[in-house]
Amino acid sequence: MSEEKVYPVPAAIAAKAHINAEQYAAMYQRSMDDPAGFWAEQAEQFVTWSKKWDSVMDYSYQADDLHIKWFQGGQLNVSYNCLDRHLDTRGDQVAIIWEGDDPNVDRKITYRELHEEVCRLANVLKSRGVNKGDRVCIYLPMIPEAAVAMLACTRIGAVHSIVFGGFSPDSLRDRVLDSECKLVITSDESVRGGRHIPLKKNADIAMRECPNVDTMIVVRRTGGNVDWVEGRDIWYDESIAAASTECAPEAMDAEDPLFVLYTSGSTGKPKGALHTTGGYLVYAAMTHKYTFDYQDGEVYWCTADVGWVTGHTYIVYGPLANGATSVMFEGIPNYPDMSRFWDVVDKHNVAIFYTAPTAIRSLMRAGEEPVKKTSRASLRILGSVGEPINPEAWEWYYNVVGDGRCPIVDTWWQTETGGHLITPLPGATALKPGSASQPFFGVVPALVDAANGTLIEGPGEGALVITQPWPGQMRTVYGDHQRYIDTYFKQYPGYYFTGDGARRDADGYYWITGRIDDVLNVSGHRLGTAEIESALVLHPHVAEAAVVGYPHDLKGQGIYAYVTPMAGVEPTDELKKELVSLVRGEIGPIAIVDIIQWAPGLPKTRSGKIMRRILRKIAANEIDSLGDTSTLADPTVVEDLIENRAVK
Ligand code: WTA
Repeated sequence: MSEEKVYPVPAAIAAKAHINAEQYAAMYQRSMDDPAGFWAEQAEQFVTWSKKWDSVMDYSYQADDLHIKWFQGGQLNVSYNCLDRHLDTRGDQVAIIWEGDDPNVDRKITYRELHEEVCRLANVLKSRGVNKGDRVCIYLPMIPEAAVAMLACTRIGAVHSIVFGGFSPDSLRDRVLDSECKLVITSDESVRGGRHIPLKKNADIAMRECPNVDTMIVVRRTGGNVDWVEGRDIWYDESIAAASTECAPEAMDAEDPLFVLYTSGSTGKPKGALHTTGGYLVYAAMTHKYTFDYQDGEVYWCTADVGWVTGHTYIVYGPLANGATSVMFEGIPNYPDMSRFWDVVDKHNVAIFYTAPTAIRSLMRAGEEPVKKTSRASLRILGSVGEPINPEAWEWYYNVVGDGRCPIVDTWWQTETGGHLITPLPGATALKPGSASQPFFGVVPALVDAANGTLIEGPGEGALVITQPWPGQMRTVYGDHQRYIDTYFKQYPGYYFTGDGARRDADGYYWITGRIDDVLNVSGHRLGTAEIESALVLHPHVAEAAVVGYPHDLKGQGIYAYVTPMAGVEPTDELKKELVSLVRGEIGPIAIVDIIQWAPGLPKTRSGKIMRRILRKIAANEIDSLGDTSTLADPTVVEDLIENRAVK
């Protein structure tokens, strides 16, 4: 692949980086030769333990004996690691820079202040009967209280389950019920791009069907009107003001649950990915330091929302464990104008900037001027996450945003992986635009032939699997261990199956090609086709629906729905609109169906299975490569679908 463009490591970056190319090679080799020794050292270096572990790792990837355990017997507390241990050395250093939606509103919170507020809220949680192991749902916008809430849970050993503020009341209800939360933390409203969104109202609707939630803590964000349930609802500000600032951190076992985070899969409802305490924190801190080459004192900004795993690991846990200054941004990239990201970079002297390809693509559309009128001289490292970054967007990010000075770390990972698995390291890895490049320490990716499961050696393309665990790997699906095994360990026995396809080039670089299961990646957000289909068939006029992704310039993938109306129903544009808003209402504003095609019939096998492969091809307008349609129960349905396809 030598004809591909390669960007060598800039000398200035390599000179002061934590890890250069030789160090990467040596450390990676060591992580292979002596994993237990390697991870013991990392665990010592990155985390303060109140009790040392007895065994570093104990695992089996075999479906009949599946278990993954790290640092068993060890004890620690995550909030202690993110706060208390920094107080002597950096108590007055800013931990969180909060940049509000309104460019004139920001707030700086030191480690000492954060510690105090976390202790107060932890005491409030206790006073409301939250005990170690109980689940707490956090449904908050991007405000510092979200980080406080996460850390307060970890302080007392409660397990948080964050639900992205853009999810609908129904999605919130399903998640609260599934993880059996007893307390919900929300705010009166959230603010994005100048618009107010009634968060508490959504939560109130969801709670009508969540009888086990006995407390709702409400942050006053806007002062907007809210309904109030006496006895259940308490104001955040009033309750923490009355609480003590002393709260001893609970000693947690390394394998005690830390959080649940729901994520979409191929089938059924979203599943609660469960992460545990010790391994996750080691992995979050280590990847944050090395992937971003974080240097002490730098301002670091990840633009994700804490409702996604990127926000968990790379806004809160990784940065704070490392004593970093982490920017938390409430707003959106185009408000009040297209320069917002870069204005914030200049305002807060951001050195490391981490965002998603979809944001880069939409900013790219507005041209260079909104970027070029800002300085961005503070920037040193750029990062990308959430979907494959197309080389054109990569080049623009590199040349226009980074002025050709800043390495881009294209980090491939998943909710399930806890932290980066395949990523360049700024001081060590030559970059190829569009490639996530090489594995992180301890990570062994492999490609298997999707058809027969055999391992592919050398350059090739196949299903991406990981052959052995790393400390940040999810441990189970909350409440459904069998589903964990079935989803990730059955397809290719002995391996963790990622759901992604990838190509490996002659230099051993990985190029992620995208999901090869029925998961869509829309603007970096994961959505299961099954979830969208279930929403569509709720409509009384819909007989059947099949959803696939199709290439979309801005979103990466768009949502394409084939819908079969009930017999006798007139398929109108009005009905299309109803269906779009139905899906949005069921799941949330991240699930906007882009295209609906009326389908008199769907291509099915004789056993009744919908052949999505064919539907994907038609949606992508790749009708010359439909493949074999002879096994269809009724091959003629395909002709109609081709004839009436939306993209020609
Ligand atoms: C995709 C987000 C290519 C991939 C951290 C993965 C990527 C899914 C990249 C996980 C990347 C994430 N290059 N694809 N750098 N990062 N993906 O769980 O398909 O929201 O399986 O975690 O996003 O999405 P999730």
